[in-house]
Amino acid sequence: MQRNLLITGGAGFIGSHVVRRFVNKYPQYRIINLDALTYAGNLENLRDIENAPNYTFVKADICDAEAVAKVIKEHGIDGIIHLAAESHVDRSITDPLSFVRTNVFGTVTLLNAAKEAWKSAMEGKRFYHVSTDEVYGSLHDDSLFLETTPYDPQSPYSASKAASDHFVRAYGNTYKLPFVVSNCSNNYGSHHFPEKLIPLMINNLRNSKPLPVYGKGENVRDWLWVEDHASAIDTIFHNGKNGETYNIGGHNEWKNIDLVHLLCSIMDKKLGRAAGESAKLITYVTDRAGHDLRYAIDAGKIERELGWKPSITFEVGLERTVDWYLANTEWLEHLTTGAYQQYYKEHYAQR
Ligand code: NAD
Ligand code: DAU
Repeated sequence: MQRNLLITGGAGFIGSHVVRRFVNKYPQYRIINLDALTYAGNLENLRDIENAPNYTFVKADICDAEAVAKVIKEHGIDGIIHLAAESHVDRSITDPLSFVRTNVFGTVTLLNAAKEAWKSAMEGKRFYHVSTDEVYGSLHDDSLFLETTPYDPQSPYSASKAASDHFVRAYGNTYKLPFVVSNCSNNYGSHHFPEKLIPLMINNLRNSKPLPVYGKGENVRDWLWVEDHASAIDTIFHNGKNGETYNIGGHNEWKNIDLVHLLCSIMDKKLGRAAGESAKLITYVTDRAGHDLRYAIDAGKIERELGWKPSITFEVGLERTVDWYLANTEWLEHLTTGAYQQYYKEHYAQR
């Protein structure tokens, strides 16, 4: 079947994996990647598919109603996978308004454009909103997030994502826009911007720089390999039921400090350092304001109803990830000069 898909945020970390998967796996689809190329967007992430005949890149902002409507009309878009967002919790603490702008205003702008373009024939159309487990808040016992867990966002980032999820469901209810939502746990893998925990630690380990662990390092995250997230998105886009929400996760909880120690021991081996050498770089720094203690996803629904589960273990995925960064130091170096240095200096100087 022929489809014309709009993927937003396709030059970012997860978006680039989704674009690559769809371009390669579905040659009969036309994939339009719309991205504003903020600091987090990087066309180098897509070098391998940029000349594919079924791929088009459009530089545009999801807040620009005219530009978004034009793309949907010109390309006869019949499905949208929406990933574009401001995605870094620390940045949301210093600049919440840019999160409201992109994550809330931008998502509603996109919803409006889809509703207008599709209003005479909603049948067969699909608006897929990619969201996060952070909308459910912070766990302080051993329970897991279910699709029915009440929303309780605790950071400006998660509040903006929660608002966008509510708008998607409101458009489904009010205008009968066919939609699906997924809420995923922390991703890791190649092409991850080095302001997030795992790539930042790998980059600092490589350069023998301090490894900044927030607070006591006791916060827990549930890690999923990014290509498994892309495969879940593929499964939900094609087989998920309209109006449903699916949690996606790896059943793979790690305390930050344990994860940093694991990375240190992998890097000791890869870089030929003595055992325990890298761990000496661990430095405890001031905690993140309002730091969520624990996230953990119950991914039972997507497994039961759609037959999806992660394809690889964390040990395999993490080793692959470290190998990718060590083989792609040029990619890292392009990102970690200029504006990144400034961000790093300001963010970690205060800690
Ligand atoms: P990212 O920050 O790496 O990439 C975001 C992309 O969106 C970038 O390419 C950026 O240029 C683009 N973008 C930002 N503002 C835009 C705008 N106004 N208009 C058009 N494009 C814009 O993010 P990511 O980590 O790949 O996350 C992608 C999505 O998945 C987000 O919606 C995020 O909330 C969600 N998510 C992320 C994770 C994770 O662990 N990273 C987990 C669950 C859900
Ligand atoms: O749970 C899904 C979410 O995961 C996504 O929605 C977000 O877009 C994504 O950024 C991620 O959010 P986190 O805040 O969990 O990711 P981050 O990599 O920023 O931090 C992971 C944990 O590591 C968190 O407990 C904070 C801690 N941390 C982070 C950094 C950058 C440190 O201890 N030191 C650091 O330098």
